[in-house]
Amino acid sequence: MKRFFLRNALIMSILMPALTGCYFDNKEDLYQFLDVTCDTSAVSYGAFILPVLENECLVCHGQSSQQGGVNLEGYNQVRLYATNGRLFGAVNHGSGFVAMPPTGQRLAQCTIDKIKAWIDKGAPDN
Ligand code: HEC
Repeated sequence: MKRFFLRNALIMSILMPALTGCYFDNKEDLYQFLDVTCDTSAVSYGAFILPVLENECLVCHGQSSQQGGVNLEGYNQVRLYATNGRLFGAVNHGSGFVAMPPTGQRLAQCTIDKIKAWIDKGAPDN
């Protein structure tokens, strides 16, 4: 019984990679499920987060209009929402949060991933 099991295990360990190993035969197919171009390693507030907010959010959450009572004008305000979880909850359409932007269109996944990475690093003013 034990030998039978071992032999099957051996056969499977040879067969499985042979059957599945080269299913994707070009780079595009292989990487289609991974966003390889999304670099979340060094996200800058000034160079990345701020422009996203300016383009997507400040029209409703800036100095002159603070819809829902949410003010994202200036680093200290952004940091507040970054660290209390509401910024990520909103852009990630998390349950219990109002989805932002409210147009129904999510931000690009890479943008959301970068916001998350920046928050995870403590939302630095970098
Ligand atoms: C067209 C106007 C508009 C835009 C653009 C917009 N928001 Fe909002 N936002 C609102 C309104 C209105 C509310 C209050 C919704 C409510 O309470 O039902 C809100 C609420 C929020 C909240 C609180 C959500 C919660 O559940 O706690 C956050 C955080 C937020 N917005 C962030 C953002 C971010 C980040 C962006 C850009 C990616 C953005 N908003 C873009 C109108 C907007």
